[in-house]
Amino acid sequence: MPPFPPKMSWFLVFVVSLIAVCRASVCPCERAELCQQIHGERDFEVFVFDVGGKTWKSYNWSMVTTVAMFGKYDAELMCYAHSKGARVVLKGDVHLSYIVDQDNRTAWIMEKVNLAKSQFMDGINIDIEQAVEDGSPEYLALTDLVKETTEAFHREIPGSQVSFDVAWSPKCIDKRCYDYVTIAEFCDLLFVMSYDEQSQIMGDCIAMANAPLSQTLDAYNQYLNLNIEPKKLVMGVPWYGYDYPCLNLSQEGICSIAEVPFRGAPCSDAAGRQKPYSWIMKQVNSSMSGRLWDSKQHAPYFNYKDQKGKIHQVWYDDPQSIGPKADLVKSKGLRGIGMWNGNILDYSEDPVARQQTAMMWNALLGC
Ligand SMILES: *[C@@H]1O[C@H](CO)[C@@H](O)[C@H](O)[C@H]1NC(C)=O
Ligand SMILES: *[C@@H]1O[C@H](CO)[C@@H](O)[C@H](O)[C@H]1NC(C)=O
Ligand SMILES: *[C@@H]1O[C@H](CO)[C@@H](O)[C@H](O)[C@H]1NC(C)=O
Ligand SMILES: *[C@@H]1O[C@H](CO)[C@@H](O)[C@H](O)[C@H]1NC(C)=O
Repeated sequence: MPPFPPKMSWFLVFVVSLIAVCRASVCPCERAELCQQIHGERDFEVFVFDVGGKTWKSYNWSMVTTVAMFGKYDAELMCYAHSKGARVVLKGDVHLSYIVDQDNRTAWIMEKVNLAKSQFMDGINIDIEQAVEDGSPEYLALTDLVKETTEAFHREIPGSQVSFDVAWSPKCIDKRCYDYVTIAEFCDLLFVMSYDEQSQIMGDCIAMANAPLSQTLDAYNQYLNLNIEPKKLVMGVPWYGYDYPCLNLSQEGICSIAEVPFRGAPCSDAAGRQKPYSWIMKQVNSSMSGRLWDSKQHAPYFNYKDQKGKIHQVWYDDPQSIGPKADLVKSKGLRGIGMWNGNILDYSEDPVARQQTAMMWNALLGC
């Protein structure tokens, strides 16, 4: 027996949908105009990934142009960003095998458009980091997904932004063989994740920089050589580093790391752990070595001993390593810069932390 007579349950469905519709249309902001989507284009994009919490209150909002909400939806953040003229975009992630089917793909896109609308958001950041084979059904579906998502968002939310996250180089990094050229053409911008560049170590199994300078810059030339417009590219820099337990630390300071294979490579940065800049800045002061500088990779690092006496080597980025990367954004006329992620600086009241945090933000604008 059904829990309610049929008529009653239809009535319930009606009430529930009515609540959903009404809820969606109520602006949570102090002023109703803050729920209006952002239309204008700013000269220089500063694209921030936000993973949750309230530290966004301490961002340098004179720079921020887009916030990708990767944590829980935060209406207060949406209202605040809009008050600063900044966009707020959804995270878009889906199993590619599901969206090879056209109906599934359309359904996924409509769901995202409706979600963005009901939350007064200004676009979507598509973050697919799955391995894809060149020419496979998933390869074609991914390109179609980007095209159809962009069309739907631009149609349904005028002025909205559709971005797509790509690896640091277009050369099938981590077996992500996508149709980069067509994807770039169809979306508004590519966020180039210039980090995790040791995800596939083919040479010696040793700790190295997360984003060595020349490797990072060369990869932008690879994108530009594909004839992708500079104004489609946003440079992503890391606000985190890698902490590697050393199997052995040589006299020359080379830290051998455990062999952890990844997508066809014998070694990878998965032998280390990602650590936020806030942690790194505390740890470097109590380290054995203090801050060291690798002039080849143009990156800072240090060695420390853990409580069990094991030696670790930590590689990271700081204003000195980020500055020259940010300079390329200007010299090549890229769309802008951004980071993974906005929350991982130390936003406490401590004066040293405040200074370090302000310097990390300012490094985004170059040397
Ligand atoms: C459609 O997507 C769902 C998951 O949302 C998946 O389980 C299903 O297999 C997909 N259908 C097709 C035909 O790919
Ligand atoms: C470990 O480091 C020591 C000190 O530099 C060195 O003498 C030794 O050869 C290294 N061992 C291995 C297995 O690399
Ligand atoms: C770390 O050391 C530097 C240099 O001695 C000092 O200026 C800074 O205040 C210290 N930072 C912290 C977080 O203690
Ligand atoms: C925020 O960024 C602007 C540049 O857009 C800079 O002038 C200002 O000093 C920064 N604010 C802080 C607190 O560092």
